[in-house]
Amino acid sequence: MCRVLIADDEDAIRRWLTRCLVKAGHEVEEASNGNAAIAALHTSSFDIVLTDLKMAGSSGLDVLRAARALDPPTAVIVMTSFGSVKTAIEAIKGGAFDFMEKPFRFEEIETRIAKALEGGRRAGGRDGTGGTDEGAFDFDRIIGSSASLGRVLNVVKKVASSNATVLILGETGSGKELVAEAIHRHSPRKSRHLVKVNCAALHESLLESELFGHERGAFTGAQRQRMGRFELADGGTLFLDEIGDMAPGTQAKILRVLQEHEFERLGGTRTLRVDVRLIAATNRNLAAMVQAGDFREDLYYRLNVVSIEMPPLRDRREDIAPLANAFIRRFSDVLNKRIDGLDGDALTLLMQHNWPGNVRQLANAIERAVLLTDSALIRRDHLRLEEASPAIATASEPERASAVKIPLSGIALGDIERDALVEALKMTNWVQKDAAELLSISPRVISYKIKMLKIECPKAVEVHMGGAA
Ligand SMILES: Nc1ncnc2c1ncn2[C@@H]1O[C@H](COP(=O)(O)OP(=O)(O)OP(=O)(O)O)[C@@H](O)[C@H]1O
Ligand SMILES: [Mg+2]
Repeated sequence: MCRVLIADDEDAIRRWLTRCLVKAGHEVEEASNGNAAIAALHTSSFDIVLTDLKMAGSSGLDVLRAARALDPPTAVIVMTSFGSVKTAIEAIKGGAFDFMEKPFRFEEIETRIAKALEGGRRAGGRDGTGGTDEGAFDFDRIIGSSASLGRVLNVVKKVASSNATVLILGETGSGKELVAEAIHRHSPRKSRHLVKVNCAALHESLLESELFGHERGAFTGAQRQRMGRFELADGGTLFLDEIGDMAPGTQAKILRVLQEHEFERLGGTRTLRVDVRLIAATNRNLAAMVQAGDFREDLYYRLNVVSIEMPPLRDRREDIAPLANAFIRRFSDVLNKRIDGLDGDALTLLMQHNWPGNVRQLANAIERAVLLTDSALIRRDHLRLEEASPAIATASEPERASAVKIPLSGIALGDIERDALVEALKMTNWVQKDAAELLSISPRVISYKIKMLKIECPKAVEVHMGGAA
């Protein structure tokens, strides 16, 4: 008996296969398209994956890539239609165990399954099916004890050893970059560079020059030849942060590197080849951006083969106490203070808070509390969270408490905007990204407005955080 995943968008074939396999004593899960199959691979383990090649959305090759990355011992058998031998060969090169041309008889499948199962592939069995250990964990500096973070870490562990592209989704401050670092550090590429690029920070042409490098004279100001980040990351990992903010032209070039592993420097004609593993992250809803035509669908599927969704902190409140304690230890060490922990009231407040800025915001709140306190326990008032945002136990309806009050003498609209910005910045301990989130604007827009309105941010807070966290 073994566990089989069948991915085929033709209902009749899928059902027929399921009936036969169940009759033969196997346990079967069905997926009616590639996306569903990849989702199933994220949550459970299979001995055999039978996948059709051509499906809408993620193809059979994507399913193969996901299986290779998430669960290397799984044997993938691809089912092709007449005349698609070329793709079938590509599949074998990509690590498929075998392929079968449709139509076929069930006995042919059975023989292949038997062949895949013998040969000691499964000697020793597998290590559970995605279950999480009870209790707190601290995997590679990633702290927490919630089941949802446990699931994330399982995927991180599974995928680290492969070369698969990973897409990390989640709200600001939820730990996307931390996860990207963990994947790199647990991969065979760990002795080479992890190169990071923030795609939202640079305009299109600058970003491209940063990524691909440029030749001398490629544009005004290009006085010397310059290596790009892809070249720097050769043999290692490239982390493309905020990929949802990437311009369409650049998206096309990234797709080419993913498919062909090659590119040219700006202004150059020589084609360069690199061996780079890509990890991408964004806090935007990429699927919705694809629907709206703002993000290339082909690139999305190419990136989304293995995806990790960081749950927001308010949806995994079990992580709050272990995180808070770890931050207390960290900051009291840095500030050379003896602090034992939080008192009951303070912990309750942390547990009830809504955390729009997620773990980063929690770290900031704890750092400030450690700074302020002169007792061994952190109290509720040290956290200064009440004034930040009211404790919201149920996070579904954001509060709209402080409507603007216009004085009788009138007020310029610009002043209201300035006040709103300063207020949001104060609430988030001057972390611009978190403030931007509160105001539903992008980090780029808030940074622009801060400059335009000449809002002065107390640097000390941010500089210190960057160094300590
Ligand atoms: N589970 C965790 N354990 C320990 N520290 C964490 C955890 N999650 C996040 N952090 C810390 O919180 C801060 C924010 O995390 P990170 O930069 O990875 O978030 P992000 O999702 O990339 O945010 P953004 O979208 O704003 O770039 C970092 O200082 C990180 O070290
Ligand atoms: Mg980040």
